[in-house]
Amino acid sequence: MWTAKAPANIALIKYMGKKAHNIPRNVSLSYTLDKFYTEVSLELTSQCDKYVGKEPLNPEAKKRFVNHLKYIKKIYNCEDFFAISSANHQILEDGSSGNFPHSAGIASSASSFAALTMCTFEAMGDLMGVPIPPVEFQSSVSRIGSGSSCRSFFSPWCLWRDKKAEKISIKIDKLLTDLIIVDDQPKKISSSKAHALVSSSLLMDGREKRAEIRLKNLLAALNNGQWENARQICWEEFWDMNALFETSFPSFGYTQPETIRILMEVRKFWQQNGDGPIATMDAGPNVHLLWQLGQTDLRSFFFRNYVLGNFSCLSQSIA
Ligand code: PMV
Repeated sequence: MWTAKAPANIALIKYMGKKAHNIPRNVSLSYTLDKFYTEVSLELTSQCDKYVGKEPLNPEAKKRFVNHLKYIKKIYNCEDFFAISSANHQILEDGSSGNFPHSAGIASSASSFAALTMCTFEAMGDLMGVPIPPVEFQSSVSRIGSGSSCRSFFSPWCLWRDKKAEKISIKIDKLLTDLIIVDDQPKKISSSKAHALVSSSLLMDGREKRAEIRLKNLLAALNNGQWENARQICWEEFWDMNALFETSFPSFGYTQPETIRILMEVRKFWQQNGDGPIATMDAGPNVHLLWQLGQTDLRSFFFRNYVLGNFSCLSQSIA
């Protein structure tokens, strides 16, 4: 039996829109969420490759997972069969662990495909007697299964352009992150579908350039300690992605009334305190918040008086 773990990641400059083989139409930058991870196990079986894990994946998601295993097996002409299982875990603030939901815009496809890729390469190494390939190669193979998974190989910051994802050094390199869960149900429009639909948006014109400009400005802000500038750039960026969704044909979106209320609380918090978190969203209704290590008191104040104080239906997850 082989097992591997890989973390989720949250993009601050978003990957949205892709070409063949999950080559992104624009550059992206992500922060790795080390405390949200997927563990994948592979066991030899005599029948055929199949998903036997307990995660409630729909048949399409199971098929994608199995196909990715087959893709890596083919590189080695491996004729063995495997039973795949996977589990999403979250390390809580007190050190205990819980589960985190799949397909709810918290990048579990990134962590699960990265873990499956790592695990399969390990199995191939043992069974076929070949060396385990370098992480850069594993990342590019993982990208074929799920685009954003290629970023989960590099922590804490990863820059992904075209076929290459790589670690990037940024002065602010450790953050505290929160995920405010508005809805943990699987999303109705998968991110694969979103990538395809956004091609119909007139706002795709210039998207590549906007991502490049924001990347340059965000790196400068984070390297020069200009936290408020960084927050502004990330705010523009996730709204840009939401605007792509809403201006596609047919239009779609993931925000819910509670999402908007939380985002407005974040805005109010900044206005009233002159400081606060970076907020961002994925393809889902949930809100990610990122704080600097020196903002712990401010963060407690936020959750006591702004969000959780006013929104009893929300659960706060700490990464
Ligand atoms: O890797 P995919 O195909 O699930 O795409 C993920 C796209 C977003 O999460 C919405 C943005 C990103 O850069 O992670």
